[in-house]
Amino acid sequence: MSTKSRFVGVVLAAGEGTRMKSSRPKVLHEIAGRPMVAWVVGAALDAGAERCVVVVGHKRDEVMAALTERFGERVQFAVQEEQRGTGHAVQHAMSQCLSDYDGSVLILYGDCPCLRADRLQELAALTANHTFALVTSHLDEPRGYGRILRTAGAVVGIREDKDCDAAQRAIQEVNPGLYAADAAFLRTSLGQLTTDNAQGELYLTDVCAIAAQAGVVGDLHAPMEELRGVNDRWELSLCAKTLRARSLEALARSGVGMADPSAVYIDADCEVEPDVTIAPGVHLRGRCVIRRGAVLEVGCVLTDVVVESGATLLPYTVASDSTIGPLANVGPFSHLRPKTVLHEGAKVGNFCETKKTIVGKGSKVNHLSYVGDGVLGEGVNIGAGTIFCNYDGVQKHTTTLKDGVFIGSDSQLVAPLTIGEGAYVASGSTVTKDVPADALAMSRTKQVNKEGYASRLRARMKVAKKSPTK
Ligand code: UD1
Ligand code: CA
Repeated sequence: MSTKSRFVGVVLAAGEGTRMKSSRPKVLHEIAGRPMVAWVVGAALDAGAERCVVVVGHKRDEVMAALTERFGERVQFAVQEEQRGTGHAVQHAMSQCLSDYDGSVLILYGDCPCLRADRLQELAALTANHTFALVTSHLDEPRGYGRILRTAGAVVGIREDKDCDAAQRAIQEVNPGLYAADAAFLRTSLGQLTTDNAQGELYLTDVCAIAAQAGVVGDLHAPMEELRGVNDRWELSLCAKTLRARSLEALARSGVGMADPSAVYIDADCEVEPDVTIAPGVHLRGRCVIRRGAVLEVGCVLTDVVVESGATLLPYTVASDSTIGPLANVGPFSHLRPKTVLHEGAKVGNFCETKKTIVGKGSKVNHLSYVGDGVLGEGVNIGAGTIFCNYDGVQKHTTTLKDGVFIGSDSQLVAPLTIGEGAYVASGSTVTKDVPADALAMSRTKQVNKEGYASRLRARMKVAKKSPTK
């Protein structure tokens, strides 16, 4: 019998997944920003697996890189050069990574992303009394799945769809493909598999009958929704829906306000604190962190953005790789490009674009501006239509505005440039030279007023209109 509390995960992910019709290996297709196989490995580790052995084959470098980046040393890899069946795959895991392991082994398929850690724990616990255990489920339309064979109520085998006779084909109890087994039993029984079947493969499922001959196979029943496998992109979308509903319910119950969770998309690696309010049409991608009291209005699309406490993002704010400070205010319709940092109470209003720019405490960029490669101190005010001319066609340059600087509307600041503390730039200026603290910079043609000129001009234009010869 196995050591009760110890188990490792084995995840099969060597297949190509031709029905996805994709250059990407099937198990790397993403759901909520996480590759399918990472959901499976994550569930196994969450359930308490000491480590996970992933069997890789097709495009294995990509699969290994994606999993190592996420799980580090908690994943190991067994290479299955040719895919000769699920039994063949587990043989490779056992011989390459688990040759002297004597605990229990939880075996999962890498294309079942909706697995729940609590269910896997329940399954692994069955190895305390069984050398082999599995999860079963019921389907009205069981075609394609292995069927569960029972005698006097006990599981005695699994028959693959292609190997079923008519009576077996009518069985609606199916094998979703989750097993727990004693490592020593597994090693022996895998050695007894043959390719004597419709597909000429080594079927892992045949291990079930071997176990039933020696003792009682453990089984537990679970709803198909959490066990569904992905073979094509439609099934991928069904799994995405299930996982999304699960995570949004958890968020809502933890205190995140959402008027319509069915219209909110939050990647699995984002963190949203209680008392955040999220309107419909918000997408949080990658690794966003949204702190308490923040409000994300309709249509905000954020990728790898930190939103601090009490900040408000008005409708249609698009931001990536940026930090929005506490009580800051952005939008509507603004675009924060990478490395934008807004400090406490800063404001970026409507129709603005920022890039690699620090906006100091309480500073404001209110309307229709481009602010790129800027370092803005505290209490700075940028007037409407200001452009930071940061690019000379070859290099990017920095514009530094010290505390309390005021930039009049419709100004162009040509970088590299520093404007000293409290200085003032008159509206409509093109500033190319540094401005000392407390100075006024003005660079525009002097205004001339010609008294009575407007009516004379109009009269002349009317005459010209009547005789259009010229
Ligand atoms: C398998 C089960 C079937 C079950 C179904 C549930 C077997 C023989 N059959 O069938 O009873 O109802 O899953 O979805 O196990 N893989 C490898 N190496 C291989 C073969 C497969 O790593 O040599 C991986 C695949 O990448 C995939 C998983 O194992 O992630 C399942 O393989 P697949 O070919 O999809 O098995 P099914 O025919 O669906
Ligand atoms: Ca399958």
